[in-house]
Amino acid sequence: MDAPIGVFDSGVGGLTVVREIMRQLPSEDVIYFGDTARVPYGSKSKQTVLKYSKQIVRFLMTKKVKAIVVACNTASALALEDMRTDMEVPVVGVVRPGAKMAAEKSKTKSVGIIATEGTVKSGIYTEYIRQIDSDVTVIGKACPLFVPLVEEGLIEDRITDDMVDRYLSELKAYNVDVLVLGCTHYPLLANPIQRYMGENVTLVNPAYETAKELKNILRENGLVCSKDKSPVYDFYVSDGVDKFKSFANSVLPIHVDGVNIIDIESY
Ligand code: DGL
Repeated sequence: MDAPIGVFDSGVGGLTVVREIMRQLPSEDVIYFGDTARVPYGSKSKQTVLKYSKQIVRFLMTKKVKAIVVACNTASALALEDMRTDMEVPVVGVVRPGAKMAAEKSKTKSVGIIATEGTVKSGIYTEYIRQIDSDVTVIGKACPLFVPLVEEGLIEDRITDDMVDRYLSELKAYNVDVLVLGCTHYPLLANPIQRYMGENVTLVNPAYETAKELKNILRENGLVCSKDKSPVYDFYVSDGVDKFKSFANSVLPIHVDGVNIIDIESY
């Protein structure tokens, strides 16, 4: 089916999920919405994140999308279950695929989750992991300063190494053998995080797992794009076109030029 896939996030971070969709589903068209005017979601209440997510879904449905990917971990954690009930198209979140991979990969049955405050407090990663394997101990840690560090491009920087040490020392002490990068921005910090945690710790990137899950869901529902073709990518934001464009061009394997701005409050 030749309709686009709708992907949304609180801002630029969900582009790490788009990057995986581009790699794993290279013919599919994508419409991305980044809620750059209202970011961050990570410190907001469930009620607010649900309201924002519903507005975005209404916007994406006007674009006749065939499936929706909630690329934001916080929105997946706080809003997805409530939204799923009245959806006309399949919806894929990033939390369940990441949790599944973490439960499968852990040998010591000690898993770390790093995410926003909202995602950690929701306890959803723990719930999903323990549904798969109730023997797993899950330790969650909110790492709020990782988001601005990524947005400032400070990936390989002493200040980032210091923050990695500060946030992750606790998880290291618990001897976790799997660490879930449970926030859209964190896969971009995979190198400093892996260096600090050591090679014996497996990092799980939910973005990668989500693209895999999306592929399965499109197949199961007969929604795979019917021909090999050049895909069309459309980007929408609620504010800050230039900042979005330069972040997109540093993360995606394509050149992003046209970015549209919309009034998301009107949906
Ligand atoms: N996109 C958010 C997430 O994955 C991180 C940024 C925010 O707090 O909105 O949880």
